[in-house]
Amino acid sequence: ITANNQTNFRPQLHFTPRDQWMNDPNGMVFYEGEYHLFYQYHPESTVWGPMHWGHAVSQDLVHWEHLPIALAPDEHGAIFSGSVVVDKHDTSGFFAGKSGLVAIFTHHDTKPGTDLTRQRQSLAYSTDRGRTWTKYANNPVLIEEALPDFRDPKVFWFNPQQSWVMVIAAGDTIRFYKSPNLKEWTHSGEFGVGQGSHDGVWECPDLFELPVDGDILNRRWVLIVSIGEDANFLEGSRTQCFIGSFNGDTFVSEESPAPLLWLDHGRDNYAGVTWSDVPEQQGRRLFIGWMNNWKYANVIPTSNWRGAMTLPRELTLTAEMEGVRLLQKPIPELQAQRRGEQNWAAFELSNSELTVTHGDLLEIIAEFEFDDELEFGLKLRASETEETILGYSTHEQLLFIDRSRSGAIDFHADFACKHSALLKAETGNMKLHIFVDRSSIEAFANDGKLVMTDQIFPLSSSTGIKLYAKDGSVKVKSLTIHTLNSIFD
Ligand code: FRU
Repeated sequence: ITANNQTNFRPQLHFTPRDQWMNDPNGMVFYEGEYHLFYQYHPESTVWGPMHWGHAVSQDLVHWEHLPIALAPDEHGAIFSGSVVVDKHDTSGFFAGKSGLVAIFTHHDTKPGTDLTRQRQSLAYSTDRGRTWTKYANNPVLIEEALPDFRDPKVFWFNPQQSWVMVIAAGDTIRFYKSPNLKEWTHSGEFGVGQGSHDGVWECPDLFELPVDGDILNRRWVLIVSIGEDANFLEGSRTQCFIGSFNGDTFVSEESPAPLLWLDHGRDNYAGVTWSDVPEQQGRRLFIGWMNNWKYANVIPTSNWRGAMTLPRELTLTAEMEGVRLLQKPIPELQAQRRGEQNWAAFELSNSELTVTHGDLLEIIAEFEFDDELEFGLKLRASETEETILGYSTHEQLLFIDRSRSGAIDFHADFACKHSALLKAETGNMKLHIFVDRSSIEAFANDGKLVMTDQIFPLSSSTGIKLYAKDGSVKVKSLTIHTLNSIFD
């Protein structure tokens, strides 16, 4: 594939597998100076099939080195999603008193003699910095015969009780388990009935604690839950989050019923979870999601691979009027990719549009001020025939992405769409931080309060970046556009 091939949608800033099918990020862990990223992988096809764990490592979360497949299907079935922990004090006994990595994942197969699926939790361990993995001889370690959908264990060490905690999806609820050694698990609690969205099966949970506005004496727990694709909902697969407390046994939402909090208001951020064991002195919670949607994931028009990850993001909490809320920001490591920088002095835009630059790998930071009722925003990857609109309607207070003319759209009936989310802007100010890549748009509004991630498949010749104002005027207070270096350069 040449760099300018019109069908080359290969992201230049986002993680993609070298070839074949990828879905969820798995087992992200920081260990001995390396960030590990495993992922749901089908090495024989560009559509979903028997799941393996693909593997890559990075020192900066931006440039990745591909490593051989870490886990392949075995006599217990395919290897679904899960997590990896650093077993520092060898609680598992796998490491002869030293430290090592343990993967906790779902084995998926069918009950012998039937066609009923079965999902059980298993272990594998590595004594060589994740390069090779040994499956535990007594797999599976956690079986719930009555639960057909029982998957995606996320495990962490809970210091106050000196025990491991597992958060796992079961049907459309979350279950909690505890263990002293990662091998024997005791059920301790449940969350979800009457809480949040149940528009699909619950998958890929994560649970972690964060300070509110940096105050370590004022902390909350965040529970992330992905909800699967259901034909009744146009949005397809999406991710919600809950904010509350965790006592070692179960999670309790601060507000009940919990408000519906979408982690991302775009169509393409699913099954995301956070890195384990990031050194405490870094003090940050790092997230990555699968930049795709089960509604059309198997038919997106990429060539020898399918599936990309979102940019890695840092999660924090802030106290808003309505309650404690999650913020998401692109990791600062991405700034090292900045090459050129263009700046504009403040200007007014009235009932018009203006091409400001061209590019297919850009970072755009814009601040707007308005008192009119109008619609304004950006047209990205634009040409005579194509454009993706990231706009704001001031009277409706809606931020939206319209990808109905974004390029290739007819591979799935629901791909072309305009979708929006409420974003209050009482002071008449709005800030957008946008990453444009070959086949995606990620928009962080108002310092990460609202995020939209969408795939697009434009022609490589659609590179225009425009600002527009419709039915009124807006002040562009500042505008900075960085051209970015490809991670493959
Ligand atoms: C989420 C998911 C997980 C499962 C994996 C299978 O996208 O359905 O629940 O473990 O994908 O590939």
